[in-house]
Amino acid sequence: MSSSKNYQRILVTSALPYANGPIHLGHLAGAYLPADIYVRYQRLKKRDVVYICGSDEHGVPITIAAEKKKVSPQAIVDEYHLRNKEAFYKFGMSFDYYGRTSSPVHHRTSQEFFLKLMEKGIFKKKTEKQLYDHQAGMFLPDRYVRGECPVCGFADAYGDQCEKCGSSLSPTDLKNPKSALTGQVPELKETMHWYIPLGDFQQRVEAWIASQDDWKSNVLGQVKSWLNQGLADRAVTRDLSWGVKVPLPNAEGKVLYVWFDAPIGYISATKEWAEQLGDPERWKTYWQDQGTKLVHFIGKDNIVFHCIMFPAMLMAHGDYVLPDNVPANEFLNLEGSKLSTSRNYAVWLDDYLTKFEVDPLRYYLATTAPETKDSDFVWMEYLQRNNSELADILGNFINRTLAFTEKRFNGLVPPRGATDQLDEEMLKTLAAAPQVIGDAIERYELRKAVTLLMDVARSANKYFNDQMPWATIKEQPEKCATTLNICLNICAHLALLMAPVLPFSAQKLWRMLGLDGDVNEQGWDDLKIDQLPPRHKLGDLYILFRKMEESEIEPEIERLRQAKAQLNNAPAAPAVEESPKISIEQFGQVQLRVAKVLAAEKVAKADKLLQLQIQIGEETRQIVAGIALHYQPEEMIGKKIIVVANLQPATVRGIESNGMLLAAQDENGHFALLGLDRDVEAGGRAR
Ligand code: MF3
Ligand code: ZN
Repeated sequence: MSSSKNYQRILVTSALPYANGPIHLGHLAGAYLPADIYVRYQRLKKRDVVYICGSDEHGVPITIAAEKKKVSPQAIVDEYHLRNKEAFYKFGMSFDYYGRTSSPVHHRTSQEFFLKLMEKGIFKKKTEKQLYDHQAGMFLPDRYVRGECPVCGFADAYGDQCEKCGSSLSPTDLKNPKSALTGQVPELKETMHWYIPLGDFQQRVEAWIASQDDWKSNVLGQVKSWLNQGLADRAVTRDLSWGVKVPLPNAEGKVLYVWFDAPIGYISATKEWAEQLGDPERWKTYWQDQGTKLVHFIGKDNIVFHCIMFPAMLMAHGDYVLPDNVPANEFLNLEGSKLSTSRNYAVWLDDYLTKFEVDPLRYYLATTAPETKDSDFVWMEYLQRNNSELADILGNFINRTLAFTEKRFNGLVPPRGATDQLDEEMLKTLAAAPQVIGDAIERYELRKAVTLLMDVARSANKYFNDQMPWATIKEQPEKCATTLNICLNICAHLALLMAPVLPFSAQKLWRMLGLDGDVNEQGWDDLKIDQLPPRHKLGDLYILFRKMEESEIEPEIERLRQAKAQLNNAPAAPAVEESPKISIEQFGQVQLRVAKVLAAEKVAKADKLLQLQIQIGEETRQIVAGIALHYQPEEMIGKKIIVVANLQPATVRGIESNGMLLAAQDENGHFALLGLDRDVEAGGRAR
């Protein structure tokens, strides 16, 4: 456990996902799988641990999704709450309770929280001008407005955040704001809201953050930069109809801000968990007794809310424990590009589950979790990790051990005789494994933990090879029996050690070893080296990790390639080997020339086109090029480019074009003109 503190119980939460869409791999790698591994381990350690999650069902992301689909917000959250809960369950997420913020308990709990802060005089009430859409007849909080980011200039920033530079914004910060509902330019209109003056908590938050010696540096970095900017007042209410109603008279049409109510959802879900247990007061011990270690697993976009805003709310309230750690992860990319739910560039969990097994995904995601920096999900790597690690190392050791026992010892555990040095070394490695792997998990270093687990399997394979049981069976049957006895007991330990990461395979292995009960109910430190005593009968043998074929993942890769191409609006380049070959003579028919741009202007009503006057040798001519989204006319002037000079003339939007310039574009939408790496006179030939 954490260095200095002596905790009696652990309360773990994973960010409540918005119930406005399905769960994808990015979610899993960030806030869910790491938490599940941690919790499963703590249960095996026999610690008192409760794991809470649920659906975040309020906020603008939900209502916008509802408007898009032309259904009610309730219909959206009902659909995705069930879908996500089910997909999580199939993925092996072992929540003790999966709640939802539309529940009456949650509405009451967050209203009481609000009222308590109100009574304590925490809030400031302010009347300010906010953006109002007359056509829609409503204020436009958060994502209801889009416009230009005042920090980086990105044209399509949200009213609460710029996705490009990550700045957190207010709708009125945006330049050229437009309503996301009607596209109208909003007007300013006065409205009254309650604000939490985070500045009043700055010192307490700072002192609390400064006392954390085991937080991740990516988290501390972000938190400190927020603190350095100085904490400002933050509105905790909104003019919306969907959400938790502000529990005051004269607050018609006002609801709690989603980032005020959602984290309280952790508390309300714990209440519901306790009620379900028939011990309704039990939630209090977890939230209000200082012996609780509270750990929030989240993605990096949630850091400010979990490390500053929610702790300040808890401090303001006064009855609650603060998190001991917030091991936020960075982002998972997909095949080299940023995930995008709105553009369907993602791998959806429920889709994955209809085609593939759970444990290989848990394994690959754990080994590539974005713990310290963004990481990348690559289907080919997933396949390789499955084949060369799960199947060839872990699976192979288990399989050769069990098959050998089956064949040579009738499926009965042979007795262990005198041990030699290799046996002793192997036993020592095995005895140390629970501690080293456990320490890594305690430190939230899950990639490390998985590597250490694989190292045990690697050592075991080496041990098997070095002891050569296939040879000793003839001349030294006792030695062979000892080797297999040890190998079988390694298998029992591996079942336990892999259980947090690979719970389904662990349980299968447990059965294959002829063991009863649930491996997940064993004690992490309780396995004996004679867990499988002599003459113990093994169960039936199966292949634990099947090798996968490239053909199984090819459709997935292809789908993403197309989604990516669509995303950038550029046709996917066909794989090079698919294109028909041409001769050097055919290529020679294409006249490539160096050209100098003399003048450039935009083509009216065609936002992608520039009209260029270029010089090739003595000749001047005009071309039309689809580069206006990437280059301003001014920056083109004077540039030397490469053009196809003998292309048949064409008329584009009524303008004659006599040639085509060369440019390159990748699947991420990066665009570049082909140029010269040294100067050559305009007119020079390229080949
Ligand atoms: N729904 C939020 C998101 O997906 C996370 C909410 S976490 C909670 O980014 F603490 F507010 F619950
Ligand atoms: Zn920006």
